[in-house]
Amino acid sequence: MFGDKAKKLVYIGSDHAGVKAKELLHTHLKEAGYDSTDLGTFTEEPCDYPDIAREVGEKVKEHDGSFGILICGTGIGMSMAANKLRGIRAAMVTDENMAELSRKHNNANVICMGARISTPEMITKMTDKFLTTTFDAEERHAKRVIKIDEM
Ligand code: RB5
Repeated sequence: MFGDKAKKLVYIGSDHAGVKAKELLHTHLKEAGYDSTDLGTFTEEPCDYPDIAREVGEKVKEHDGSFGILICGTGIGMSMAANKLRGIRAAMVTDENMAELSRKHNNANVICMGARISTPEMITKMTDKFLTTTFDAEERHAKRVIKIDEM
């Protein structure tokens, strides 16, 4: 489905608030042909979203060209935490347009969504859009993303 033989590497994680949405999305991604690794959490037992954001972010940093998906109640805490990691550009999105532009203009490598904000259907659509959109590497966007990475 990607035009080349390599499967796109995806790391997915959530806290307890996002665990159901995350499991549905992980299944969808595997069915769609992505190499998706679920890094937890795996139950509705309360856990701390920064721990999951760190795990997913570290994997994305380790594997060039991979993407991260993070789901918590709002998407806000996950994005705050993931953006603390150098090299991670995490975008908190609530619609498909934001998901698309986060790739095109910001070269986001992590998408963060809220299971208490968006339906599972919207979460699937936003993720599909995110994973199938490429960075529009024209100079004005590229120089701004470099500035982010240098901060
Ligand atoms: C957990 O109750 C909730 O605070 C968390 O999922 C997230 O929304 C934080 O940003």
